[in-house]
Formats: sequence, C-alpha cells, structure tokens
Amino acid sequence: MREQLTAIRATATDALNQADTLAALEELRIQYLGKKGELTAVMKGMGKLSAEERPIIGQLANEVRAEIEGALEEKKAALETAAADAKILSETIDVTMPGRRSTKGKKHPLTTVLDDLKDIFIGMGFTIAEGPEVELDYYNFEALNIPKDHPARDTQDTFYIDENVVLRSQTSPVQVRVMEQQKPPIRIIAPGRVYRSDAVDATHSPVFHQIEGLVVDKGITMADLKGTLEVFVKKLYGENTRMRFRPHHFPFTEPSAEVDISCFNCGGEGCRICKGEGWIEILGCGMVHPKVLSGCGIDPEEYSGFAFGIGLERTTMFRYGIDDLRLYFENDIRFLEQF
Ligand code: DAH
Repeated sequence: MREQLTAIRATATDALNQADTLAALEELRIQYLGKKGELTAVMKGMGKLSAEERPIIGQLANEVRAEIEGALEEKKAALETAAADAKILSETIDVTMPGRRSTKGKKHPLTTVLDDLKDIFIGMGFTIAEGPEVELDYYNFEALNIPKDHPARDTQDTFYIDENVVLRSQTSPVQVRVMEQQKPPIRIIAPGRVYRSDAVDATHSPVFHQIEGLVVDKGITMADLKGTLEVFVKKLYGENTRMRFRPHHFPFTEPSAEVDISCFNCGGEGCRICKGEGWIEILGCGMVHPKVLSGCGIDPEEYSGFAFGIGLERTTMFRYGIDDLRLYFENDIRFLEQF
C-alpha cells in the first residue's frame, strides 16, 4: 500500500504539472480524489491493514491527499490568473486614442432672434397667430386697401399661382384673417415666411421672414403703439437704445410711420453699419386703417388698433453684425457655428 501511495503521489504530481486547462484539472481531481478515485480506493482498503500499520499508512495517505489538494489549488489559481491576463491583453484599449466627436447642432441665428422676439411679445400679453404662405390676392392686397391697380403692388411684386392666388408678399394678410375670425380685444403677433420676386443680393432675397403685430381694442392710440414698440426695442437692443418715428405711407395704416433705432454699434455717432446716419430703420407701423377694420366687420367708430411689421433678417443682421443676407440660406457650417 505504501508503494501504491508513493506511485499515486508521483503520477499525480506529474499529471498536475502538465495540466494546462481548468477542465483538465477537474478531470485529474476526479481521477485521484473523486468518489471512485485512485486515492479514495486506497483509503477505502485501509480497513484490511493491521493495527500497527494503519496509523502509519493513514498518515501517509493523508499527506498524499493534502499534497494533491494543495497542488490542485495552486495550479487552479495559476491557470485562472493566466486566463485573466490573457483576457486583459486581448481587450486592451488605447486610452490615448482621441474619442469620436459627436456633432451637436444648434439654432439658426434667425430662429434664435425669432424666439427672443416671441418671448418679448408673449411677455406683453400677445399670442401667436398664423396664416397661409400661399394666400389669396384678396387677403394679401385687396383687404389691406391695396386694389389691383395700386402702385404699392409694384414694390411688393410676388409670385402668382393664378390671378387670385399669390405667395404672400407680407405677413399683413394674417391681420385680416385674425380680425375676420376674432372680435376685439385682439393682441397677436404673426411670424412667418414671405415672398417677393426680388433678385438675390446682400440685402434682398425672394424668400424672407416678417413678424406682424396687431392690437385692436376700444381706445387704442398711437401712444400705445409707441409704448409697445419702445419696450420691444429696449428689450431686444438694450436699455439705452433710442427710437424715433418717421412719417411714412402704408395703404393699410393711417397714420403710418417707419421706426428707426439709434445705431447699436456707434450709439448714434455714425458708422459703417448705420451708413453714417446714426439711425437704423427697423420696422413699419401705423394705426389700422378704418377701411381695413370695417372690411373685417369691426366698427372703426367703436374700435381702433395699431399694427407693425418687422423684418426678421434685418433684425438678426443688426443683432449680430451680419452684413450679407445670403449667409442665412447658404448652410455654410463655418458661418452657422458662430452663433
Ligand atoms: N407689410 C409691410 C411691408 O411688408 C410692413 C408693415 C408696415 C406692416 C406697417 C404693418 C404696418 O403691419 O402697420 O412692408
């Protein structure tokens, strides 16, 4: 039995040394230490030994068992470490490699300024109205006191779908649509795209944007118009901005005016942006013409109102010092990323 144990010790140690996978180790464990294993078989036979031999062989058997168990543990740990190392090596990442940059979009400058403008007017109790871009000649011109042969049509030549349908040349038709639907008090702004058959240059585009404003109620005067625009101008261009009204003519307002602001760049001294004037024209406005009111079923004896129209492209140009309107529509990232 002693020889048997010594042989087991030798072959087991050898086999363990050569085992190179965890599965192979497990097989060896079963082979030697399992219920039907070689060492187990020897130990089961110990009952046949004499009383003197039993403790000696028993001790040896225990030693061999402990040795095999120890060697198994050691080898197992070594194999596991090797496996973990191999895994780490195969998954190595180069932390110095630059990451993939995700491109984040942002608002177009026209959208930013339009959003600011909406906030300002909503803050003064206005709501947002909308109207169609493909508009009836009636709303775009006729109902705004611009009959077929009126010279004002020349400055707003647009694209005709047919004799009675045009691409709207201004957002003013929304005034009429709102007044037809809604009785005073009315307080709306109507931002939107407008069209004119203009050739493209630094200050003209066949497509651009306006923000129309309309207030109708009892007792509305030019002072309300001026006060409202003053708040708007100071919020958009700064508290120190001055404003002036210049008499003008629009067929759908009476009296009419154009509004200039003191140049935000030079403060009124005269510079390249205001072309030496010190003032910059920013919008058209006036008191809603009685004919327009009554055409919409609103009695001009009872109600009065004011209206204004702001060009979004111009307003945005002044806000950021942009000198060519074509940049808005060219989609050049180098331009757009600056805002
Ligand atoms: N619709 C005018 C234009 O495109 C701008 C304008 C002027 C709008 C006076 C108004 C207004 O509402 O009262 O030139």
